[in-house]
Amino acid sequence: MTEDLSAIAAMARELADLAGREMAEGLRRNPAVSYKPGAGGGESLRDPVSEVDQAVEVMIRERLSGAFPDHDVLGEELAGRPARGSRYLWAVDPVDGTANYINGFPLFSGSVGLLRDGVPVAGAVWCASSHALRAGVYHAAEGGGLFFDGEPVRPVFNPDVRRRIGGFVDASPRSPEGWEARRTGSAAIECAFIAAGLMEVARFERPNVWDVAGGFALVRATGGIIRILGEKGWQDFTRFDAEGDPGEWRHPVILGRAEAVERLCSLDA
Ligand code: IPD
Ligand code: CA
Ligand code: CA
Ligand code: CA
Repeated sequence: MTEDLSAIAAMARELADLAGREMAEGLRRNPAVSYKPGAGGGESLRDPVSEVDQAVEVMIRERLSGAFPDHDVLGEELAGRPARGSRYLWAVDPVDGTANYINGFPLFSGSVGLLRDGVPVAGAVWCASSHALRAGVYHAAEGGGLFFDGEPVRPVFNPDVRRRIGGFVDASPRSPEGWEARRTGSAAIECAFIAAGLMEVARFERPNVWDVAGGFALVRATGGIIRILGEKGWQDFTRFDAEGDPGEWRHPVILGRAEAVERLCSLDA
C-alpha cells in the first residue's frame, strides 16, 4: 500500500465527524445508559456507557475495515484485541467524556488515531466545543499542520493573558503559578485544545491508548511535546509499545507547549 498520510487523516476526520453527528443526534433521544463492572464486581458509577458509544464504534469499525481491510483496530467498547498483523493500528474512542455526554455537559469528543509502528502519525478529534466556539473536527497528520473542519487552524494566542489554562486538577491540589486548572472530563478534548492553543499543558494519570492516540497525533503535528513517566522518570514519548499489547499501555502523561511541559515535569520530579 502506498501511504498517503494526509488522505488517511482526511479519513480520520470523516470518522470523527460521523461520531460527532451521531452523538448530537443520540443526545436528543436520551440514549440508554448502563454502567461497566467496577473493580469489586458491581457496577461502576464512574464508568458509564451509552448505546451511542457502542453504536458509533460499530460504525467506525465498519468504515475502517471497508477502507483499510489489512489494518488493525482497537476501540474502547468492543471486546477483543486486534490480531496485530499490521504495522497500522487505529485506536478509536467513540465517545470520550461519556459522563459529560450523558449529562449533556458540552465537553465531550470522539477520537480516532492511527499508529504506524506504535507512533501516532494521524488523527482526528471531534469536539463538542472548540476554539471556533462551535462543534467541529480537528485533524492532523505528521508533517502537516492542524485543521478545524478542513480549514487551517490559527492557534489562539493573546499575549495579554498571563494566567493560562492547564488540565491537571487530578495531579496537583493547587494550580502551579501562572496556570489555572481545568479538568474537562475528556482527555481527547484536552489534547485537541492544546494543539489549537486553548490550553497550555495537561496531565493524564493512566490513559488508555484510545483516549490519547488521536490527540497525540494532533499535539505532535503542532509541535507540542509529550512526556511519559517511565522507570527513569519523565521521558519523551516516542511510541506506544510496538511489541507489547497497546491495549495494556498505561503511563502518566504530561503534554503541551514545551516550556510548560518542562515546568510541570520539574515540579513533579
Ligand atoms: C474518560 C475521559 C476522562 C478521563 C477518564 C476516561 P471515557 O474516558 O478520557 O478524561 O479522566 O479516565 O475514562 O470513559 O469517557 O471514554
Ligand atoms: Ca468509558
Ligand atoms: Ca476515553
Ligand atoms: Ca469512551
